[in-house]
Amino acid sequence: MQQVFGKMKVFITRQFPKSGLELFEKAGIDVEQWTEQRDLTQQELIDKCKDADALLAAGRIELNAEFLEACKHLKVISLFSVGYDNVDMEKADELNIPVGHTPGVLSKATADTAFLLMQATARKAFHHHKRIAKGDWEFFDPLQDLGQELQGKTLGIFGLGNIGYEMAKSAKGAFDMKIVYHNRSTNEKAESDLGAQKVTFDELLEKSDVISVHANLSEETEGVFDADAFAKMKRSAIFVNTARGPVHNQSDLKKALEDGKIWGAGLDVTDPEPMDKNDPLLDYPNVCVLPHIGSSTNETRDVMAVLSARNAIAGLQNKELPARVKPE
Ligand code: DGY
Repeated sequence: MQQVFGKMKVFITRQFPKSGLELFEKAGIDVEQWTEQRDLTQQELIDKCKDADALLAAGRIELNAEFLEACKHLKVISLFSVGYDNVDMEKADELNIPVGHTPGVLSKATADTAFLLMQATARKAFHHHKRIAKGDWEFFDPLQDLGQELQGKTLGIFGLGNIGYEMAKSAKGAFDMKIVYHNRSTNEKAESDLGAQKVTFDELLEKSDVISVHANLSEETEGVFDADAFAKMKRSAIFVNTARGPVHNQSDLKKALEDGKIWGAGLDVTDPEPMDKNDPLLDYPNVCVLPHIGSSTNETRDVMAVLSARNAIAGLQNKELPARVKPE
């Protein structure tokens, strides 16, 4: 049963950074953290939320209509992520449960991950690392496993919000890359600061030497990078995705790499997640994969904890959330 008298309680689906726990303590809110090294099942989550007033959700956890209906007493749901594709937002709105997330604070760290993957893929860095581990560093062959340079090339950003802007800024600063982008709205700041040019989706595919995905996962973006899209890209192109795996069709991506339709791929997100350890993509020399670590730095996880705690506390106090999800 939900508490009627006494302290409010938040259930957190992971062990949580100290910076966030301190805010709950200061606000006089009880905290229960899930400490097991596995995701809760839906029924376990429902049971845990029964005597909680707020849920703070981190990790791969689906908050679907069934869950929301069973937990409609929650005063707020706070996500430890900027993405909210795991929440049935229509149902949450219908039940008047405000949902908070963490935009802005993780933009630089996530863009840095995209930048890292762009460069690592261009220079086949993970492949060379694996070569050393296999004892294959004996003979110098000047033509072996060559990479490509990024200086002056064209970076295409799919979804130019905060994270896409940071990626474009780094690429412009480091390699004087030309920036093109595909977005629903015009990004005035990127156009004036970086000379970014808005293009159609087909132009993005045709012009870019590197395409970096920074869009939310939605009905509109799911599977847009499919066989047709890869076929329109340059054969020398690198595809980078640090947003959500299902924005690309992973079997089409594999085929495009095998058939040489594109040159390489750098992925921080895959479909499915986690990726199977025997996935052939892990053996391709022109592919670098990371386990969805876009925002995982000490600094960023701390500020995410603060913002997600502030969202939860505001919801419990019937105040406007500092960062409430506003689906388009
Ligand atoms: C985010 O914040 O959305 C990250 O991708 C973690 O899910």
